[in-house]
Formats: sequence, C-alpha cells, structure tokens
Amino acid sequence: MNTDLKINKNVTAICVCIGQTCKSLGSQEILKEIRKIKEKQRIAIDLTYQNCFSRCEHKDGLCPTLKLNNEWIDNATPAKIKEIFG
Ligand code: FES
Repeated sequence: MNTDLKINKNVTAICVCIGQTCKSLGSQEILKEIRKIKEKQRIAIDLTYQNCFSRCEHKDGLCPTLKLNNEWIDNATPAKIKEIFG
C-alpha cells in the first residue's frame, strides 16, 4: 500500500463510488467505516459520492473504489480504510 496515503488530519476529501458494482462489492460497509472514523477521530472529512467512476470496467476488477485526496483506493475494504486513518 502507498504509505503516502497516510493522511494528515486536517481536511480529507473522500469520494466513494456507490455505483451498482461497487455497491455489490461492499461500498456501503466502507461508508460505514468512514463515518465511524469521522466521528471517533473527529477528522474533517469532506465525504461525497459518485454513481460510477467507470473503474468497474477495468479488466483487473478495481471495485469497490474511492478517491481519497485525488488518489485512487481500489479494492477498498473497511480494513484498508482503518489502516489509512490508523
Ligand atoms: S460501479 Fe464503482 S466504478 Fe463503476
């Protein structure tokens, strides 16, 4: 994992894909984890949603996916999110 993604705790912009493929692969659990972290760590997170980033069309299967401060987080999981904000 790219350790540059360890975020500073000022403002973090996160855009989560809530399109059909990402949703079926767990984007709702990722959203829950982000909300939990936001509340627990009192981090200013600008949380937005996108219906599809077209990354579901990638041959390697990148879903669920999200963008964190303009970096792609592919095959995202709640554990991966927890690690980034750790
Ligand atoms: S559904 Fe998430 S990238 Fe297409």
